[in-house]
Amino acid sequence: MAAGFFVSCAAQDLVLPPPVKTGGKPLMEALNDRQTTREFSDKELDSQTLSDLLWAAYGFNRDDKRVVPSANNKQEFTVYVVMKSGIYVYDAKENTLIQKKSGDFRTSTGKQDFVAVAPVNLVFVADMNLMQSKETANADCGYISQNVYLYCASAGLGTVVRGWFDADEVRKALELGENQEPILTQTVGYKK
Ligand SMILES: Cc1cc2nc3c(=O)[nH]c(=O)nc-3n(C[C@H](O)[C@H](O)[C@H](O)COP(=O)(O)O)c2cc1C
Repeated sequence: MAAGFFVSCAAQDLVLPPPVKTGGKPLMEALNDRQTTREFSDKELDSQTLSDLLWAAYGFNRDDKRVVPSANNKQEFTVYVVMKSGIYVYDAKENTLIQKKSGDFRTSTGKQDFVAVAPVNLVFVADMNLMQSKETANADCGYISQNVYLYCASAGLGTVVRGWFDADEVRKALELGENQEPILTQTVGYKK
């Protein structure tokens, strides 16, 4: 499949190309380059970059286990992807973005101006029924966020993890259930 093109399956779901699990910067260089960015261009991520980013964040690297650890292997997170075209859930098994809503809800994910400019805002949502405690969910979320930081450092993208958001506004926009708690958000895009 050519990079840069999405294949549509049902409704406006987006089937991503398989993630490329080789290459990138050596780990020590990625660590050296990891940093927060708060100025983004509005350039979209192509589908290959989105696939690689999401796999780095929360993909599977073994049959039923992921690139990130989780306390007692609860795997309690769902990664929501908020873009200009809509709100999606990352289905790591199918490598697909399942569309939950169409429309641009990026401003609902945060209070800082760049959320409306950058192409991608991730929302890391914990299932309170699965998680051990808020503390372990916070810790588990940190691994996801750091993987995004390292992928972005490797791929030359900018990113900022964000705790500053209105949880009720996020819950409303994402239409979260009572058991779902947004823990952190993270903006990704090209640096301005
Ligand atoms: C849990 C957490 C929440 C954060 N929330 C925000 C935020 O809401 N907005 C923001 O601009 N930066 C946020 N940051 C980014 C920090 O400000 C940033 O990591 C710190 O200034 C160090 O900069 P560096 O990441 O470039 O090393 C957050 C970082 C963490 C770990």
